[in-house]
Amino acid sequence: MCGIVGYLGRKAAQPILIEALKRLEYRGYDSAGIATLSDGVIKIKKEQGKISKLEEILDAPSNDEKLGIAHTRWATHGKPNQLNAHPHSDWTGKIAVVHNGIIENHATLKTWLSSKAVDFVSETDTEVIANLIGYFYSEVNSGKDHTQAPPDQNKFEWSVQRALAELHGTYGLAILCADFPKMLIGAKKGSPLILGVGEGEYILASDAAAIVEHTQKAIYLSNNEMVTITPDGFNTKTIDNVAVSKELHQIEFSLEQIEIGGFAHYMLKEIFEQPEALKTCMGGRIDRQNNRIKLGGLASYLRELTRTKHLILTACGTAFHASLVGEFLFEHLARIPTETEYASEFRYRNPIIEDQTVVISISQSGETADTLAAAEYAKERGATVLGIVNVVGSSIARTTDAGIYLHAGPEIGVASTKAFTAQLAVLTMLAIELGRRKNISDTEAGRLIEELSAIPEKISRILKQSEHIKEIASANIKKNNWLFLGRGFNYPVALEGALKLKEISYIHAEGLPAAEMKHGPIALISNGTPAVFIATLGPQYDKILGNISEVRARGGKIIVVATEGDESIKQYADHLITIPEAPEMLQPMLTVLPLQILAYHAAVLRGKDVDKPRNLAKSVTVE
Ligand code: AGP
Ligand code: GLU
Repeated sequence: MCGIVGYLGRKAAQPILIEALKRLEYRGYDSAGIATLSDGVIKIKKEQGKISKLEEILDAPSNDEKLGIAHTRWATHGKPNQLNAHPHSDWTGKIAVVHNGIIENHATLKTWLSSKAVDFVSETDTEVIANLIGYFYSEVNSGKDHTQAPPDQNKFEWSVQRALAELHGTYGLAILCADFPKMLIGAKKGSPLILGVGEGEYILASDAAAIVEHTQKAIYLSNNEMVTITPDGFNTKTIDNVAVSKELHQIEFSLEQIEIGGFAHYMLKEIFEQPEALKTCMGGRIDRQNNRIKLGGLASYLRELTRTKHLILTACGTAFHASLVGEFLFEHLARIPTETEYASEFRYRNPIIEDQTVVISISQSGETADTLAAAEYAKERGATVLGIVNVVGSSIARTTDAGIYLHAGPEIGVASTKAFTAQLAVLTMLAIELGRRKNISDTEAGRLIEELSAIPEKISRILKQSEHIKEIASANIKKNNWLFLGRGFNYPVALEGALKLKEISYIHAEGLPAAEMKHGPIALISNGTPAVFIATLGPQYDKILGNISEVRARGGKIIVVATEGDESIKQYADHLITIPEAPEMLQPMLTVLPLQILAYHAAVLRGKDVDKPRNLAKSVTVE
């Protein structure tokens, strides 16, 4: 949920840490802080608010300070204020820590430490980590501790390991010790942590966006692993001190891909990147000559997938909406019994996981705690667990038995857009391939593959309506309750449209299957209530016209997403947005575009922070 960075190298640490932190600000931004170490003194500066507020209180960078850590927070324990901002130090001031995650036994540990006369100043769980390390460090230095550090291991590293052994919960950590002015320690359990390996410099970070400016080489720590970094290199080991060797990876994306590229916001950039993102996502996977789909990462699981009688898709938020479309695709094309589950609910309701159950975890970040936990839960109970993930090397990607990367490029805006359509593209490709192996003809598969290949160009045509959609937003943003309604494959898109509007413009909205209106929600309709209908040509077109009439008769303001060339819809619409014709099962990749753009303009017109909406973070790495 929040972002952590650490730097050890030949340059002044402060500017590097601040710039790296800005690339992680989308992960959380209620407070920020930095700690640098030189001459045996740890200097900490931290402030409530965004990183720009922290910058206002910083001293000029010093070339003597070549080691430091920094943090941008999304609070879980303790109010978002200056006192609870990270870095947190221990009561002696010798240890400083930045943390991403939740320490579930923090209260017990705090009580125990307090009984040892250890002082606390904040409300956070993170301060417990700092004080626990500090406690063991002071004990082992005093010789009082009954478990002395092994003679060949330095006491800082040993104290970290001793403390980590007591923690229950999740952490991504970067840690300093005043007595080790050339040593940076990182540790990971349940939250992401990557080490960028540069020329004589090292950068620890929550994700690669903070690293690519300095190096494209990185190692991805796994759970219960730590790394000790010095100017001479780094050592990776388990938190109980067993050496592990880690592969050096090439980070897939470049700096310009995470730059905003002249757009007003990352979200707008990523909306407009969707044609290219889908071409990259589908490139090399669609074989139009042989009417085949090649999903290398899943090749050895396709047979199991065609045979399963119980396919479960688990995800959160926007990825959940994509999963719902996936459910309809797998059942429609491959006749595979499929259910979609909120990951947060799945793991606590004692779900049925029998022999041959397959679970697919869908996640842009690959770090969503609920989705990760659901994947681990299913795996422990014998299910085959596959992943559809965007971030390479992410925790979910490394937990699943196999998977498919979206290859949609880094998604920085908190509101997910190109990852959604890329998830739909991957689910569609998988459903076509499974259908082709089961019950649809090669001809039908070929037709769908042709239609799928045409989607990026059709998206480009919809993007041209951005100004028109802005006018629709402008005419309706004073209304505080919107409805989004769709049927069939477009029902999940209605849910997604409502989520987009809510999360960036703060206008309340509800997404519904259109037919559900009459079972209660139609009571919400009053004069001018904006009702967004996805009324494209398809099997339920006439039915949705009836739903529109029901709302219109009660004074609702009708905004319609319709098919290009449909003249009869015009009499029903106060506002009309059109999409190119496509088979109903492929329409969600198109019908979502007007809703993404509508939400974007509504948020901008209402003066909201589009890329960093209040209370949110890009990746929810805490439960
Ligand atoms: C989407 O716009 C939201 N930011 C949120 O619902 C998001 O989709 C959800 O947190 C899941 O994230 P993931 O895809 O990274 O797992
Ligand atoms: N639990 C820590 C805090 O509340 C870190 C929160 C996070 O990872 O977002 O400060």
